[in-house]
Amino acid sequence: MSDHYLEFTHSAFGRQLAALMGLPAPPRLRRATGGYDDQPLATRAVLVGGSEQAQMAEAMLGALSGMGADLYLAPDHCGLAPVKAAAASRGEALKGEPLGERFSPHALVFDASGIDSVPALRSLYEFLQPRIARLPAHGRVLLLSRAPSSLSEVGPHTASMALRGFIRSLAKEIGRKGSTANLVEVATGGEPAVAGALRFLLTEHAAFITGQTLGIGVPDAVPTHWGQSLFGRRALVTGAARGIGAAIAQTLAREGAQVIGVDRPQEEGALGESMSRVGGRGLALDVTAADAAERIVSECGPLDVVVHNAGVTRDKMLRNMAPHLWDTVLDINLGAIIRINERLLADGLAEGARMVCISSIGGIAGNAGQTNYATTKAGVIGYAEALAPEMARRGGAINAVAPGFIETAMTAAMPVMPREIGRRLSALAQGGLPADIAEAVTFLASGLSAGINGQTLRVCGQNFVGA
Ligand SMILES: NC(=O)c1ccc[n+]([C@@H]2O[C@H](COP(=O)([O-])OP(=O)(O)OC[C@H]3O[C@@H](n4cnc5c(N)ncnc54)[C@H](O)[C@@H]3O)[C@@H](O)[C@H]2O)c1
Repeated sequence: MSDHYLEFTHSAFGRQLAALMGLPAPPRLRRATGGYDDQPLATRAVLVGGSEQAQMAEAMLGALSGMGADLYLAPDHCGLAPVKAAAASRGEALKGEPLGERFSPHALVFDASGIDSVPALRSLYEFLQPRIARLPAHGRVLLLSRAPSSLSEVGPHTASMALRGFIRSLAKEIGRKGSTANLVEVATGGEPAVAGALRFLLTEHAAFITGQTLGIGVPDAVPTHWGQSLFGRRALVTGAARGIGAAIAQTLAREGAQVIGVDRPQEEGALGESMSRVGGRGLALDVTAADAAERIVSECGPLDVVVHNAGVTRDKMLRNMAPHLWDTVLDINLGAIIRINERLLADGLAEGARMVCISSIGGIAGNAGQTNYATTKAGVIGYAEALAPEMARRGGAINAVAPGFIETAMTAAMPVMPREIGRRLSALAQGGLPADIAEAVTFLASGLSAGINGQTLRVCGQNFVGA
């Protein structure tokens, strides 16, 4: 369903009225219109900087120049030496930042690794404060750091944690222009995987992701090409007849995957239409059926990608919740995922398979009337964490995506006020589209997310719920 308020504030009259009354005017987000290409930042300026002890400048520069970015170096900050040294060792010439108000780079990227004290945090302020007002609409801020969990000393651990608060606040500050700010925490040895994460977060593929922290571990392998990275891969998507599942099928197919969509037998017609749009195959199946796992294995062959998206809500306050409302939601949203995966793990997965499970910010924050739903969605997050080591042993990964408010049939059925509040209470002041979830799933299903395992990525425009 469409967001009438957003449309209204983009009309001449609506814009004036919103300004007059001090109402929010949600930006029209700039989303990807096609697949990944090799040089997504070609002709776009990116200003780089780092801390005095920056450790990832080489990986940062490699990733950005690989994307075709026009690289500029901030001239007057404490990380000049490590960034210059990294550029020299790569044989790269960085341009000096042009003086004056007119220079307005698409992205500000800062290597904050090595920050180990309160005074050292000032480098972040010095790099971003004078420039943030010049960030254009739909611009990007991205910080690189080491994860607090990998830093045992008090100073570095504290400073690394502090960066999370910084990025969450900055995201809220710049969201009204459709700009995003995210933090990527890289394990020692995870540097080669930075390129994939930056391709996602710095481009229109991640338009609805802001205020988030994404952790990168040590990857087994990193991609050598970026476009059509799922070419020939067999991908199963549950709940693919409509909404988010149909969008996931479409985006996986855009990157070359052969999609097999699953949905309930009564949705066979819609599933057929959804699959014919992507050249995929439909499998009419209730994921809770006793033979669901067996049929998936026998009819789909070894799978490279598995997306557990099918999900339902049956909202009621716990005091009024009949047992079948509990059982239905628990079984579809969580029980079926675990049962199907147990069978797939026996002999239904190709080597290096990637799984993505759809959670919800409801599972992070909780919601009155959703004890059943939130139980399953928090369970999904735990499940992805728990299964991650096993998937890593197989050369693959499992991650969860937690959507915020997304414009689908599920949210169209909400009462007007909660729906309007759900949309507006986020840094980007609007709901997301199924395509936003599909982009995140496709990132996590592909080699672009090398090194990312057992994590939950919120795709919610930094919804204030559970933030
Ligand atoms: N829409 C949102 O704002 C939002 C927010 C957070 C999380 N999510 C999650 O995203 C996922 C997709 O949500 P959506 O909004 O597209 O929902 P939707 O209701 O539009 O689509 C869900 C699909 O799953 C299918 N399905 C339901 N039960 C099934 C079963 N037993 N077997 C096979 N298929 C089944 C449905 O037929 C439907 O096609 C769900 O897991 C949902 O919990 C959605």
